[in-house]
Amino acid sequence: MDRWLARIIVAQDRWARPLGDFNHRWLRALFRPMPAIRDLLNGRWLGHPLHGVLTDAPIGILFLVIVLDVLDLRSAADVALVVGILTMLAAAVTGAADYSDTDGTARVRATVHSTLMVVALVVYVASLALRGSSAAGDDRAVAVWTSVVAFLILAAGAYVGGDVVYALGNMVSRHAFRGAGTKWIALEPAERDEAGDIPEGRPVKAKLGINTLALVREGDTVLALHDTCAHAGGPLSEGTIEDGCLVCPWHASKYRLTDGRARRGPTVYDQPAYEVRRTEAGGWEARRRPS
Ligand code: FES
Repeated sequence: MDRWLARIIVAQDRWARPLGDFNHRWLRALFRPMPAIRDLLNGRWLGHPLHGVLTDAPIGILFLVIVLDVLDLRSAADVALVVGILTMLAAAVTGAADYSDTDGTARVRATVHSTLMVVALVVYVASLALRGSSAAGDDRAVAVWTSVVAFLILAAGAYVGGDVVYALGNMVSRHAFRGAGTKWIALEPAERDEAGDIPEGRPVKAKLGINTLALVREGDTVLALHDTCAHAGGPLSEGTIEDGCLVCPWHASKYRLTDGRARRGPTVYDQPAYEVRRTEAGGWEARRRPS
């Protein structure tokens, strides 16, 4: 069954890719000028994607609508439907903020997910309208079945949304499985200046065992973050320095150099930070700062 479902989802790429690219363009243009709103919707203040929190509400509430309809508790079912539609809208707004910084296959799948959710929302609104116009009539059954159909579309959308996160790792910290070892290890900068030192005033890539870091030297102080951006893996060593922070070149997440704290989204996760010191032999070594 899983392969059959996967084939159906992949078959949607033909229409989802161009639609996703189109949606991405206007959503990016919408959210880029208001980073504070985007941060709020991404969930940086929560340290967790807000969309993932809010999506539970409509699914639970809209399932409850079916239960209340079966029990013929009409008013309760109708009120629950209104609340479910409102929570769907809240989840959609937060999802749109995440989507505006989603690329590649994840964007294509997120397009299938969001399209199904929009269709489910429209069908739910139709059910609500039918309920309003047929509260006392036989047409109530049509309204109820309409919301059952909407729930099936919603469940399909949730399935695809789960793939975006669990199979494609969208909005999952790129450092989720990184160990927190704090042993000093020899550091190998990829570049040196004429004096054999780490170049100043721009990020420089360096190897630290199996990890790659982005270094920033200011005089005798060398600050270091992991090179792989926690949001979606962008190379921070190709980013820019801004107000004591490193800015990712891919979607402009901003991390404080001293401790890796996320100062601007779309990342909702902090970046691993490292202490760097000179060795007696004139080289450098580094270790991870405790988070
Ligand atoms: S990869 Fe998205 S902000 Fe760095």
